[in-house]
Amino acid sequence: MARVIGSEAVEDARQRGRTVFEILPGDIVTEMARETAARIGIRLADGPIERPAPVRTDGTTAMRRVLYRRSARWAAPARTVQPRARRFSRLAIVGAGGVGGNIAHLAANADIAEEIVLIDIARGVAAAAALDLNHAAGITGAGARCLGSEDLGQVSGADAVVVTAGRARTPGMTRSDLMDANRRVIHAAAEAIRTQAPNAVVIVVTNPLDEMTAEMLRATGFPRERVLGMAGTLDSSRFRSALAAAAKVSPADVSAITLGSHGDEMAPILSLARIKGLPLSKFLSEDEIGACARDAVTGGGQVVALRRSGSATIAPAHATVEILDHVRGVRAGPVPVSVMLNGEYGVDGVVLGVPAHLGQTGLVRVEILNISETERTALRTAADAIRHRLSQ
Ligand code: 2OP
Repeated sequence: MARVIGSEAVEDARQRGRTVFEILPGDIVTEMARETAARIGIRLADGPIERPAPVRTDGTTAMRRVLYRRSARWAAPARTVQPRARRFSRLAIVGAGGVGGNIAHLAANADIAEEIVLIDIARGVAAAAALDLNHAAGITGAGARCLGSEDLGQVSGADAVVVTAGRARTPGMTRSDLMDANRRVIHAAAEAIRTQAPNAVVIVVTNPLDEMTAEMLRATGFPRERVLGMAGTLDSSRFRSALAAAAKVSPADVSAITLGSHGDEMAPILSLARIKGLPLSKFLSEDEIGACARDAVTGGGQVVALRRSGSATIAPAHATVEILDHVRGVRAGPVPVSVMLNGEYGVDGVVLGVPAHLGQTGLVRVEILNISETERTALRTAADAIRHRLSQ
């Protein structure tokens, strides 16, 4: 059975301390996997690889293996280059509505924080969600202690703060229509974070995302590394989902990202998108590809139109936890995230969705992908539109 070797398999092997990844006859190795292998230093070797004969060892080592229940070939794993993944000591989530509540649920189940504090100005909402989550722990075994409060001061001591609070769209609204209302929410949260959680990494979810991330950066005065916007991970997931449905494959077989803005100027990156390691055109027509790109751009609005009140909650929550996993070192490699650019991709002084390496103090570096000139132009167009909206 031919295997499709994607970048995740290569990263997983590296994280388990492997330096060689065995490729068996008939395996399909995606280009992303080859790029990832080169980047993280693991060799793709044509197999099957001759296995060394079982080692003969002295009694002492054999006894240690028995005591420590290790296999005959056990050897202390090489120190991986990946910094150890960690749990957040305190994850604060401002906004305990659909998105914030789902983030807390996923975070508790994935055991990503010792303490999760939900904050919402609506009376009882955060406390109820926290109590509900603690009740579920009797089944899930989740170790996180969940707290709920109406006091923004409860961001105190958080090492990561997710801000989802603010109005959501109703049918017919664009995300930019939320600018004035949600700017006030961001400023209130920023003041609490600036004074009570001065070392936190902040992940903004509130819309309009690019503008609100810029507002958070300005109002906290934090370095750009520690204020990130969640959008590209969500939009890229919608893009991959649409491509998978159109090509009738599993989303796991699709690698595709969107960059730029979290709005009409979003740029699905067709030149790098792959299905089973192959260009999209091997599976889809031009029209089908165009429809998938449009689904990525309009996916949020499609959910709003169906819900009639409020926007998506599940996919944004998964997309936020993906960023948290990159920040805490569980996931490696570039991830689409909205950051303040300092000249990358020819854009300066605007928050824009770009691929970036993240770590425990937030942004490590922006990844410069070899995208087409059309796609570079789309990024600059998105930046101009965001700059214009902020200037108003
Ligand atoms: C979305 O696209 C809420 O902006 C978010 O669903």
